[in-house]
Amino acid sequence: MLETILTSLEEGILTVTINRPDKLNALNKTVFQELDKVMDEVYLDANIKSVIITGAGNTAFVAGADITEFTSLSKTEAVALSERGQKVFFKIENCPKPVIAAVNGFALGGGCELAMACHFRICSENAKFGQPEVNLGLIPGYGATQRLTRLIGKGKSMELHMTASMIDAQEAHQLKLVNYVVAQEEVIGKAKSLLSLIHTKAPLAISGVISCINAVENNTLNGYEKEAATFGNLFETEDMKEGIAAFIEKRKVNFKGL
Ligand code: COA
Repeated sequence: MLETILTSLEEGILTVTINRPDKLNALNKTVFQELDKVMDEVYLDANIKSVIITGAGNTAFVAGADITEFTSLSKTEAVALSERGQKVFFKIENCPKPVIAAVNGFALGGGCELAMACHFRICSENAKFGQPEVNLGLIPGYGATQRLTRLIGKGKSMELHMTASMIDAQEAHQLKLVNYVVAQEEVIGKAKSLLSLIHTKAPLAISGVISCINAVENNTLNGYEKEAATFGNLFETEDMKEGIAAFIEKRKVNFKGL
């Protein structure tokens, strides 16, 4: 039983809802622990093919880290808090199955960082994004200085971090922070229809796409080498042989995830 997260599995899509609407779904210690646990299940459970992360209610996706937990942290505890959050978000970013953020309102601070850790983002027309940490005398601790900069470029990232200004859904779309802006009631539906399309593709090829595109951003690996190695590995999969055969035989493909 989870205290702060709701999950529902339908047609292979696990919808993960951060459920603290009275606190605008702020990320406290329990949310992080439970999100970590849910992601472990996503990695292990073959019935889960993809994930949608969203927030409860129509006001917020997530309005940030829970500020009330910041009141009495030592420097060492603050570093540990940041590293703990980063670790959970890396687990989302490096998940071999697609993870989409369905942003249904405020995505501020840790909320914007959670959305950016997902593979891509869809948002509602009322969504608002921002990194307001400097208002608290802080900087982001869950990856925004890195991920926002890569997604929207250095100058705009500097501006948003320094001014703490919120941007609306249209501006987020123009900046390529989100892929689609849709009506509030269509956010989950749009995410589900994209994931249903992705489910028709070879799962191991989708995992390969995720790890190679992530390698663009992680300087620890040479992305081109990783691409070539992953490309080669896929030649040993049944789904690759099936995909090629189906094309040549002009028939519908039948992928098995093998
Ligand atoms: N941490 C803890 N509690 C939070 C929170 C956060 N990040 N964001 C909102 N809440 C709580 C509020 O304290 C309030 O709780 P209360 O009813 O017990 O007082 C509740 O959620 C509703 O928020 P409220 O501020 O009353 O809503 P609003 O519509 O007036 O304002 C925001 C919405 C998002 C603009 C405002 O809540 C806000 O600025 N939140 C903090 C954003 C932030 O700085 N995030 C980065 C943290 S590092």
